[in-house]
Amino acid sequence: MIWQLGSDATLQTVLGIESSCDDTAAGIVRAGGGRVEILSSVVAGQNDLHAAFGGVVPEIAARAHAERLDHAVEQALAAAGMRLDEVSAIAVTAGPGLIGGLLAGVMFAKGLSAASDKPLVGINHLAGHALTPRLTHQLAFPYLVLLVSGGHAQFLIAEGADRFRRLGGTIDDAPGEAFDKVAKLLGLPQPGGPSVEREAASGDPFRFGLPRPLLSQPGCDMSFSGLKTAVLRARDECMAAAGGLRRQDRRDLCAAFQAAVADILVEKSRRAIEAYLATDPAHPAFAVAGGVASNQLLRGQLETLAAQKGVTFVAPPLPLCTDNGAMIAWAGIERLRLGLIDDLSLAARPRWPLDDRAPAQLGSGRKGAKA
Ligand code: KG4
Ligand code: ZN
Repeated sequence: MIWQLGSDATLQTVLGIESSCDDTAAGIVRAGGGRVEILSSVVAGQNDLHAAFGGVVPEIAARAHAERLDHAVEQALAAAGMRLDEVSAIAVTAGPGLIGGLLAGVMFAKGLSAASDKPLVGINHLAGHALTPRLTHQLAFPYLVLLVSGGHAQFLIAEGADRFRRLGGTIDDAPGEAFDKVAKLLGLPQPGGPSVEREAASGDPFRFGLPRPLLSQPGCDMSFSGLKTAVLRARDECMAAAGGLRRQDRRDLCAAFQAAVADILVEKSRRAIEAYLATDPAHPAFAVAGGVASNQLLRGQLETLAAQKGVTFVAPPLPLCTDNGAMIAWAGIERLRLGLIDDLSLAARPRWPLDDRAPAQLGSGRKGAKA
């Protein structure tokens, strides 16, 4: 079978499917001739299913994806006013992530591809996040991106849709994971990021002196696990002193934790920007992507840093920071333009680093399973 592959001028309308963690998502993006349009983006979360367990249960997530994928795709097509035979290709997250969810998505996309004779494009979930600034702001390569999500924290120079250079990342927890754990130990609902951010709004970030691990070390590597342990200790002290955790203690702990995460990310971003600028990019730009990029304090501080450094700053709108199908559809368009398509041998890859040359680190996509 011969498929017509696109240049920038060719109009492509791609269906994107995402099921690597706990969001079942489908989105449709149309691009070509200098225009990009998100025709639909449907996200069905699973917070209700995992709430009782205090974290994502992989088997429950996989089953829910298998049950919900067809509905998500139907809704995405309906919202775009399209039929499946009108899309140019089907893009699907093939890794990294939880294997059960990835398999559900890849198998489903293969079925759609075979039934509709549409090309299949396997997408690296991290590339989906990292390429989103091109969907929303048409950023030119090479740009620097800070990718911060539930399973990842890394600085990447995006050199092309299929070429990323990793400058550094977390050596232990991802910041989103730290937000989730802190929420759990303070009795706040999941996902932790939005809950902690809400509480922090009326908290005092200076009451508790939390550590900033690795801040004085050179380079762009980061660490968040000590921070979470420090919150645990401060919480226990508060509880011992007052016979329970008072409302204001919780708010102050959230504010202190959020401020510490932002400090670490901003200082390491300063170093990453300097390393990136040393490569003499034509149009220097710094983007932030992934679920944690929805955090308002972080967005504000990174924007200030970028202005100080004289680089363009891009933070995608909040629904495109957290997991969604539109980013997978867009990454599909990017790959189609490079002539990169897959066939029915496409495999789900729970581990799949964006930069094969960088050393393995937790959250690099080579170790661990979260996306
Ligand atoms: O990118 P994403 O939706 O999924 C992964 O690929 O992991 O990121 C989810 C993570 C969760 O850990 C969640 O707590 C965090 O992003 N998050 C936030 C905020 N919104 C979501 N963290 C801090 N502040 C937020 N407003
Ligand atoms: Zn993600």
